[in-house]
Amino acid sequence: MNDSFSSVAVSSVAAARDVDSSRNPVGDPGFLWDFWYPAARSSQIRGRKLVTAMLLEVPLVLGRTDDGKAFAMRDSCPHRGIPLSYGRFDGQAVECAYHGWKFEACSGQCIEIPSLTSQDKLKVERIFAGHFPCQERDGYVWVYITQPGTLPRGSQRAETIPAAPALPVFSKGYKITHLDCELPSHVDQGIIGLMDPAHGPFVHQSWYWRSRRSIHDKEKKFEPIANGFRMSTHTPSANSAPYKLLRRMTGEPVTTTIDFVLPNMRLEEIRSGKLWFSSRATVTPVRRDLCRIDFVAAWNVAAWLPLVVPVFRSFAKRFLRQDQLTMIQQAEGLKYNPKLMLIDDADRPAKWYFGLKAGLLESRRTGEPMVHPMAGPVTLHWRS
Ligand code: FES
Ligand SMILES: [Fe+2]
Repeated sequence: MNDSFSSVAVSSVAAARDVDSSRNPVGDPGFLWDFWYPAARSSQIRGRKLVTAMLLEVPLVLGRTDDGKAFAMRDSCPHRGIPLSYGRFDGQAVECAYHGWKFEACSGQCIEIPSLTSQDKLKVERIFAGHFPCQERDGYVWVYITQPGTLPRGSQRAETIPAAPALPVFSKGYKITHLDCELPSHVDQGIIGLMDPAHGPFVHQSWYWRSRRSIHDKEKKFEPIANGFRMSTHTPSANSAPYKLLRRMTGEPVTTTIDFVLPNMRLEEIRSGKLWFSSRATVTPVRRDLCRIDFVAAWNVAAWLPLVVPVFRSFAKRFLRQDQLTMIQQAEGLKYNPKLMLIDDADRPAKWYFGLKAGLLESRRTGEPMVHPMAGPVTLHWRS
């Protein structure tokens, strides 16, 4: 499914770093606010059904208005806090199950309080339920999560919010498929697991991919990009069957480019002649002890073959299941708050991730431009 981020490595032991912040049971959960996160699959939001989700420990109720617009409200009535998801939705407004207050679904604005008499002076329209910007892309409902208490009321800040992320695609006809998997871990552990090259030969052993015996020296170039880093475009490892096959199909070299971008996104692009494969994995914090990988892949390679999607899905599922099992085992160990290490060079991407995160938070605090943890292009060496 991927190349070097899940392939091999060894290198000189250098700086080791503690990542205790990822296991803080109270206090700051270490989330990155003011970003888009996928809350649910678009296909889950049907008719007038209300669906619950959680992002960054914020409970959400999602739905779709009769004219097709997805919305995300805080799943809590501003009157007495009962989840709005217990209420009723008429295609426009959500009515709370407790005292029947009604809220316009997209703006959160209160439009009716049934207990008021004609004598009452309360300005109903000044009351808002919590609500978040919501957009659909690539089959996901994305929600722009702002830190509770800093939520902009109304839509005055809508223009300053970037568009939700879209998976890059390179031709009209293609196949697309989605997979997800929950990990019982802090998002930081999920992310560094995603960019870790050294676990591949141990966790993802299989005859069609690679075995422990295929471990060899790797050299990969990385470069800084805005809010992230890129494994520069290169020809992937020759010992993986899928790449050999692709090469045989086009007779042209195979190239791959892998980006990591804050807050949580790994993008991979594989090209060979006219054929392309594009994938995105996001690791989304649900709670501080739970995250979810959402994986979407699109390709035009043999898009005419009927079995391509199920075959790809079964391989990808197996990969995700192997990672999930490892993270479940790791979570068992992390319960007892052990000291952890990040070593060079195999864990350098993980160090960059923590550096990017710290740089972003610092820049938001000071208003100064973000300091990137990489001064320029870097070549890393490991065995995998
Ligand atoms: S708690 Fe929702 S209307 Fe009272
Ligand atoms: Fe993996």
